[in-house]
Amino acid sequence: MDRNVSAGPERIHREAASCYTRTVEFPPEELETTRLVLRRPTIEDAEAAFESYASDPKITRYLTWTAHTSPAQTREYFQQAIDAWDLRMGHRIWLIERKEDGALVGTIGCTVHFHRAEIGFALGSRFWGEGYMPEAMKQVCAAAFQDDRISRVQALCDEENTRSSRVMQKIGMQYEGRLRQYGQHPNRSDTPRDCVMYAMVRSD
Ligand SMILES: CC(C)(COP(=O)(O)OP(=O)(O)OC[C@H]1O[C@@H](n2cnc3c(N)ncnc32)[C@H](O)[C@@H]1OP(=O)(O)O)[C@@H](O)C(=O)NCCC(=O)NCCS
Repeated sequence: MDRNVSAGPERIHREAASCYTRTVEFPPEELETTRLVLRRPTIEDAEAAFESYASDPKITRYLTWTAHTSPAQTREYFQQAIDAWDLRMGHRIWLIERKEDGALVGTIGCTVHFHRAEIGFALGSRFWGEGYMPEAMKQVCAAAFQDDRISRVQALCDEENTRSSRVMQKIGMQYEGRLRQYGQHPNRSDTPRDCVMYAMVRSD
């Protein structure tokens, strides 16, 4: 088992501090956990991502986008994602690959705004319930705090999205409150939705 998976925020920070004596730029292009590799996408990944998660309507119920209807749509999105990595700005996404068999199980992304990193995530529904996302999120949080500039990692979701809230709780993020009419989740409703905010700060 990955040693960070069972660790709380204090241990994540302590390990991060002991490994690095100078600031590291977040987000890195690749991260690794016991079972997973998180890596920036290539355009050749688009088809597998479409099959695995991007076309899966079960995952988009509380997301800001609707399930992709063709691999070409995923390809177009990936081109933007690749540009963001190349420019080192905007929303950076990793693909989550299972080491055991190379299966592409989902995605996790982050946006850095000054001292804050905001994380979003999704897994193909056939990969739910294995603890993959908490494992990936822990590693992303640890990497974020290795960058001296970042003091807060946050994630938010639709108030009804209990599976997502569970991920935040499991990795030791604190519930901070409700953001009224904050999210546009077109698969759930035409009108803005209340969201819940979770976060972890460096001093936790
Ligand atoms: C949220 C999500 C990433 C969770 O990832 P995961 O790796 O399955 O996380 P876990 O295995 O820790 O399971 C989290 C919770 O999901 C629920 N869950 C697990 N497997 C499930 C399944 N097969 N079907 C329905 N719910 C399930 C459980 O409540 C679980 O909490 P528990 O372990 O306390 O019982 C995944 O459900 C998902 O991709 N959802 C759709 C996209 C989304 O909503 N993303 C968040 C937007 S902010």
